[in-house]
Amino acid sequence: MATIRVRNTGQRIEGESTVRQFLADNNVYYDHWDPGKLPVHLQGKFVLAAEDQEAILQAYREDIERLAQSRGYVKWDVIALSEATPNLEELLKKFEQVHTHSEDEVRAIVAGSGIFIIKGKPETGYFDVELEAGDVISVPENNPHFFTLTDERKVVAIRLFIDPSGWVAHPYEDPEFVKA
Ligand SMILES: [Fe+2]
Repeated sequence: MATIRVRNTGQRIEGESTVRQFLADNNVYYDHWDPGKLPVHLQGKFVLAAEDQEAILQAYREDIERLAQSRGYVKWDVIALSEATPNLEELLKKFEQVHTHSEDEVRAIVAGSGIFIIKGKPETGYFDVELEAGDVISVPENNPHFFTLTDERKVVAIRLFIDPSGWVAHPYEDPEFVKA
């Protein structure tokens, strides 16, 4: 289950109903899929061949299609990051810049963990959402955010797109953003 840390106050938000309410109040879509659907032979695997990615999409096919139908996604794929990813440090440095997209950014975590740092309502400011297997989140279009890994430094996630060709990161310089 996702947990939240509000950067300005250090407040932590835990527990399903409180987390859901906080995310809804900040216009962040949240859902939870059964992490047990990950095929046994792929558990603990963070370097994925094409057939592994396909097996993950098959395992979550009903969830993906339901979400795609309700929110207009037309394409999906699987991304895996770990210490085995070439240039992981450089990639993370690139990720860790506040930016926006012209469409929403959807991630369903199927293994490992990750953190979205998201700009909330003016009175809330930036908050971190720490995600684990089963958590599904969508950062709204044009909402400043970035993604990074947790200390375990590994994640497998399903991404869904409305228009993959239009999914570009636009840097967002924000004096309100506080690191750490
Ligand atoms: Fe993004």
